[in-house]
Amino acid sequence: MKRFARVAGVAGYLPGRPVTNDDLVARGINTSDEWIRTRTGIRQRHFAASEETTSDLAVAAAQAALAEVGWTGNDLDLIVVATTTPDMIFPSTATIVQERVGCTNGAPAFDVQAVCTGFVYALALADQFVRLGEAQRALVVGADTFSRLLDFSDRTTCVLFGDGAGAVLLEAADQPGVMATRLHADGRYRAALCVPGQTAAGQVLGDPFVRMQGQTVFKFAVQALVAVAEEVLATAQLPATAVDWWIPHQANARILDAVARRLGVTRERVVETVALHGNTSAASIPLALAWANSQGLLSRGDLVLLSAVGGGFTWGAALLRW
Ligand code: UT7
Repeated sequence: MKRFARVAGVAGYLPGRPVTNDDLVARGINTSDEWIRTRTGIRQRHFAASEETTSDLAVAAAQAALAEVGWTGNDLDLIVVATTTPDMIFPSTATIVQERVGCTNGAPAFDVQAVCTGFVYALALADQFVRLGEAQRALVVGADTFSRLLDFSDRTTCVLFGDGAGAVLLEAADQPGVMATRLHADGRYRAALCVPGQTAAGQVLGDPFVRMQGQTVFKFAVQALVAVAEEVLATAQLPATAVDWWIPHQANARILDAVARRLGVTRERVVETVALHGNTSAASIPLALAWANSQGLLSRGDLVLLSAVGGGFTWGAALLRW
């Protein structure tokens, strides 16, 4: 029985040209390349054009992954899209992606909303479908147009985020693949990172932009990423020294430094794309995975640790045998 999920393919998509820190200064934001680089490690990010939607990004990444593996849309029997910036309130972005990749076989398709932890949540769910024998070939996408949620007069948030999408194809296999996953949330922290607005009477009521208590998020992120990595490694009965590649959610290079140090994962084993992509929320891990793969960093049999933290707070980790 093939009851484990393994990664069959991965691809990423970034819209438009890179927008550098100096480009943001030129747009009138009261910041500097030096501040952004030293506090976050970010050098550039990408922003979707005004007519480009999250599903456009998701479809581009999904089609690239399907082409890499040689599957068609109708080979898929599960589609999960992690996003906080869906095209519309409903239907789900996953159903839009389903239609656009030509999947007409009735496969289930749904969105997952766990902000920056969204991809890890989506991957863990798809893994459970495969383990239960409910899916054999799954598309898992992380896609966000976070720029739509940015208040460009708030320099404490607008310099941090970018847009993008990453897609992973999972297939049922005899051996893992996905060895273990751990998911968590604690809604007591929801005010620390949120978009407080809501829709009513055809309008957004309240504040439609990202609001963040940066230092609270920073401190929580470090301890949560360490704890959940230790948990998922303990589940698989492996030490941190066995990790070949740690591919974390890309929010801030200083967070990655602190976590790597505490976990005992050497810095050369950390895949870091935050300089190139900024924080792309649900897209950040699959984009980093696609980047690592495209650079030839990942070898068959490598142990890959994914972990993320985001609004809610939510946090989680997955351990993969590549
Ligand atoms: O997916 C999870 C998403 N979020 C995160 O991971 C964010 C986690 N937090 C962080 O990464 C950091 O807290 C930030 C990068 C957001 C901020 O760094 P910080 O070292 O915590 O800076 P701070 O908030 O303590 O601000 C220090 C100074 C302030 O000036 P004063 O009050 O000391 O004069 C800010 O006004 O830096 C100022 N500042 C800026 N200056 C230039 C804040 N943002 C900027 C900016 N450019 N963009």
